[in-house]
Amino acid sequence: MPSVIITGADRGLGFALCKEYLSRGWTVFGGKFLDDYNLLEQERKKNPSLHIVPLNVGDAASIAKARDLVAEQTDSLDMIISNAALMGEVKCSIDDLPMDLNTPWNSFRVNALGPTLMVENFLPLTDKGKMKRLCFISSEVSCILLMKYRVGSNYPYPMSKSSMNMGVRLMHNLLYPQGYSFRLYHPGWMKRQMTDGTLSEWAMLDPADTAAHCAEYFETPLGDEQRLVLYDYRSHEWPF
Ligand SMILES: NC(=O)c1ccc[n+]([C@@H]2O[C@H](COP(=O)([O-])OP(=O)(O)OC[C@H]3O[C@@H](n4cnc5c(N)ncnc54)[C@H](OP(=O)(O)O)[C@@H]3O)[C@@H](O)[C@H]2O)c1
Repeated sequence: MPSVIITGADRGLGFALCKEYLSRGWTVFGGKFLDDYNLLEQERKKNPSLHIVPLNVGDAASIAKARDLVAEQTDSLDMIISNAALMGEVKCSIDDLPMDLNTPWNSFRVNALGPTLMVENFLPLTDKGKMKRLCFISSEVSCILLMKYRVGSNYPYPMSKSSMNMGVRLMHNLLYPQGYSFRLYHPGWMKRQMTDGTLSEWAMLDPADTAAHCAEYFETPLGDEQRLVLYDYRSHEWPF
């Protein structure tokens, strides 16, 4: 049975990916960050293949502890999905002075460095996995070309997602020759999931629909794994 760890799995796309991989027969380690959401616990009652792991990707000690908890259950892991992100509206841009320097650091720690630290810590398990697949949820806002006409954006989220892409590029250079393959995915504008599991009215996509498309893309081997692209929920490729 293949296995995956998914960060930021309490709700939204992370939770939907947990359910999607469980339905595909995978063993799933769901990273739990939020105390006020218990969707993972409810799912665990229905499916013992789901293991809930406390995980704050902005904290190196928390990542190492999560790795040790996973290693108690399995000696190998097939896939890592870095989904967790700090996305909220923050006031930090050149058109809203003065800029608050703490906000970007939080975003960089979680969104850009967190995914790299996850890979570093879980390598001993993924090295023994059959699939060796490293997957990253990015965004169209990470793509400098696509942001050409966007004005007034807060800076930390797009800048940190661009940095994550660079981290993925550098990890690909190192790990692809060692048998690893990579996926970088833009999930589209998704509805927000509430504590009771219902979805917000605004936004375009149901995270469950995106998760089905995303999981298929992550799981399926490609003919040209040496090529790194940003792939989106409509199966389009973007430069990044
Ligand atoms: N929603 C969209 O329209 C959209 C568009 C493009 C890309 N994306 C990307 O898609 C992914 C999932 O988005 P989503 O809509 O499902 O967002 P979401 O519902 O906010 O899920 C992300 C989860 O990560 C959690 N998180 C924050 N900091 C964390 C940390 N340090 N460690 C572990 N988890 C942490 C968040 O908790 P908090 O709520 O406490 O922050 C949240 O539960 C993200 O990477 C996002 O950047 C989303």
